[in-house]
Amino acid sequence: MGCGGTMTDECEWDAELAEAARGAMGHAYAPYSRFAVGAAVRLADGRIITGANFENASYGLSLCAETVAIAATNAAGDLSNVRAIALIGGPMEPPAQEDPSPITPCGRCRQVIAEAAMLAGRDIKVYCASLSGTQQAVYTISELLPHAFSAADFSA
Ligand code: THU
Repeated sequence: MGCGGTMTDECEWDAELAEAARGAMGHAYAPYSRFAVGAAVRLADGRIITGANFENASYGLSLCAETVAIAATNAAGDLSNVRAIALIGGPMEPPAQEDPSPITPCGRCRQVIAEAAMLAGRDIKVYCASLSGTQQAVYTISELLPHAFSAADFSA
């Protein structure tokens, strides 16, 4: 194993967080896309808060796992304490042959994670795992969304 994707200066992997994301993936409500995603947020004090994608018959209302996890983190009063987020996702009926590559957060989720980073006053690690767990990619949110829109832009 090892880190894939764009490397950060440190290449550590939070296995516990990735496993929490995998567990949350089991709670995905994704009857329309049949694509399950789980996310897990690591807080500064070590706690973990999870989320899964949550679809709707009105497709555009669907919520991504990362956004659900960050919103749950806010509901717990910990939006400014996010240090990392892990995600894992893939088809609910995967083709038998190959392990799909790790997914990375969609653009909207990157902006949501960037909001947490702004509040924390520091970068947030993003751990991405393939379905089997054998492929791993570690990013920071500033790598995934450089020049994010932020509250600072209101006063620009
Ligand atoms: N999805 C996520 O949960 N996170 C992402 O970053 C990308 C996409 C979900 C949304 C939808 O329920 C399904 O995956 C297929 O797009």
